[in-house]
Amino acid sequence: MKIKKAVLPVAGLGTRFLPATKVVPKELLPIVDIPTVQYVVQEAVESGITEIIFVTGRGKDAIEDHFDWVPELEQVLEERGQIEVLETLRRIAEMIEVVSVRQKRPLGLGHAVLCARDLVGDEPFAVLLADDLIDAQIPCLRQLLDVFEEKKDSVVALMRVPREEVQRYGVIRGQGLVSRLYAIQDMVEKPAPEDAPSQLAIIGRYILRPEIFTLLEKVSPGRGGEIQLTDGLSRLVRERKVYGYEFVGTRYDVGDKFGFVQATVAYALKRPELREKVKEYLRTVILEK
Ligand code: UTP
Repeated sequence: MKIKKAVLPVAGLGTRFLPATKVVPKELLPIVDIPTVQYVVQEAVESGITEIIFVTGRGKDAIEDHFDWVPELEQVLEERGQIEVLETLRRIAEMIEVVSVRQKRPLGLGHAVLCARDLVGDEPFAVLLADDLIDAQIPCLRQLLDVFEEKKDSVVALMRVPREEVQRYGVIRGQGLVSRLYAIQDMVEKPAPEDAPSQLAIIGRYILRPEIFTLLEKVSPGRGGEIQLTDGLSRLVRERKVYGYEFVGTRYDVGDKFGFVQATVAYALKRPELREKVKEYLRTVILEK
């Protein structure tokens, strides 16, 4: 069965980016001139997803608007002959079907996914976190879908991280199968470095079977009073196979200030019109130091 629906939970408060995120959703902060959420939706589209389900919260309506038509603006651009930008805007509006559901209180990522239950229905689906930008030749979600299509069981994206950083992630204990593929035996949310079962961290791309919903309902609030997706996944591991795939590509944590700066530099260097200027500028900055 082909997976067509992807859930994007965007109801988080984005406290690490205050005051920027006081009124502007963090998912709309741009890397160069493209909002982070657009890169992630693009990855989903390029992976074959045809419907995006946003789990939104207060003050997040602008995210849906970003993927909609803006007739007044389009008219002005047309009159001014700014055809290139006009076409860009039209492409974004035509990109994909968007629906949304509210998470009335930010009770955690697991709870946000649970809010999408009725819109997903009884079928496997993808989850993408807009905090994780992944630069890859084959879109990261596509890599996971390839595993799912073969195995028919849930798959999460894995990344090897330094031991001192494991406490920022959900970390797996797994059995290596073929190259990059693991059968997950257990997972722990934000372990201390000495307790971490491995250095393989779960990052923000998942293919989940619908059984996850019933399991998430049973999860009681954990760290910080939130319902963690990792706790739901740990239960799923006990019932069915869950795979981890060490994706090929570079991931930027744009929910973190340093990650955001790294992504800005890396994505600017990928743009032909900016590349040389940015390189030259970086050289001067380093020399001045
Ligand atoms: P984060 O842990 O990064 O939380 O959530 P946050 O609130 O967005 O950011 P900070 O830590 O306060 O700066 C990871 C993802 O899960 C979503 C977020 O929008 C983000 O994409 N999320 C988190 C929800 O949709 N609902 C929640 O209750 C929590």
